[in-house]
Amino acid sequence: MRRIAMSVATTTLSASLVGCGGLNAVRSSGDASPAKGDDITVGLLLPEKSNPQYEQFHYPAIKTKVASLTHGQGRVEYANADADAGEQSRQLQQMINAQVDVILLDPVDAHAIASGVRKAKKAGIAVIAYDRLAEGPIDAYITFDNELVGEIQGRSLLEALGEDASISDKIVMMNGSPTDPNAQQFKAGALLALDRKVTIAKSFDTVDWKPQTAEKNMTEAINEIGRNNIKAVYAANDGLAGGVIEALKAAGVTDLPPVTGQDAELSAVRRIVTGEQYMSAYKPYPQEAEHAAEMAVAKAQGKNIQFDALTRDKVDSPTHKGIPAHLVPVVAVTKDNITDTVIRDGMYTPSDICMPQLAADCTAAGLK
Ligand code: BGC
Repeated sequence: MRRIAMSVATTTLSASLVGCGGLNAVRSSGDASPAKGDDITVGLLLPEKSNPQYEQFHYPAIKTKVASLTHGQGRVEYANADADAGEQSRQLQQMINAQVDVILLDPVDAHAIASGVRKAKKAGIAVIAYDRLAEGPIDAYITFDNELVGEIQGRSLLEALGEDASISDKIVMMNGSPTDPNAQQFKAGALLALDRKVTIAKSFDTVDWKPQTAEKNMTEAINEIGRNNIKAVYAANDGLAGGVIEALKAAGVTDLPPVTGQDAELSAVRRIVTGEQYMSAYKPYPQEAEHAAEMAVAKAQGKNIQFDALTRDKVDSPTHKGIPAHLVPVVAVTKDNITDTVIRDGMYTPSDICMPQLAADCTAAGLK
């Protein structure tokens, strides 16, 4: 994917919520017309549950924004595939059967879902790829700047190693799922920063982004490289970072090497406060979710000029070129900027982060 500089759309979360009906909800009459009013249904397909961001942030934020854009009349039909690509195909088919007006799709397997995307297209339902770029005739794509995520992680890792970092420093790379195109972009971005600066002694792809698999792979890396010879670990997200840190601790490592992450999960922010994890690439979810809701509503209502204004970038997938897109920038969270990032954006309050046993670390990090 081409890297693009862009401005960030800043939007605020609205407080109103609407209920969400079952998948069998029927469209109101007159739905052959592209110009729909507020009575629309947005299908939302998210990929997994073990990573808390999907149910905790994305779904509620999209639901709220769709409601506020449609005067409380628009609905979100939500399904989560729990990392099962077959289940996601079935969920997509159910959305097609229910004739939702537009689908936001975050694929488990970007390649496998392409036939479902084609079916939706045939049924006259626009599909907007959400966060991960599904293959097939996608109408538009909303995501973060994924290569930048990897680059920021790689640069942070070098920063943590300090001025003495050298090519003889051995690091381990714990990458994401091979069926998630984002994982390849995170890796490519990280390699841009790390290439010729350190030695990648072991590199793993982690099927379905499972933290337990990362833990197992890290144990293998420790056995092979030696627990005192690993200078740092590139972990593509916070779930993997958690698995990596467990493996290091289980191997008796007390002075943990710097470990990267992504998503600013609450458990990871706590590890950053205590110093167990060096950083997390923070992706401001409300910006992605709200922009997606705006795109979906504009598409469903046939507001093409508005839709084009929301998708000024272009990306390529393996099957389609020049897909209209919007990429949201990201930032690194370290111990120094927790207040200016996840707390300022309302993701967590200091008391969410600062459990009693973290009191001293929280004070040291300036969190009150
Ligand atoms: C997302 C990450 C997430 C990972 C695992 C990626 O596609 O961009 O934020 O950590 O999937 O769910």
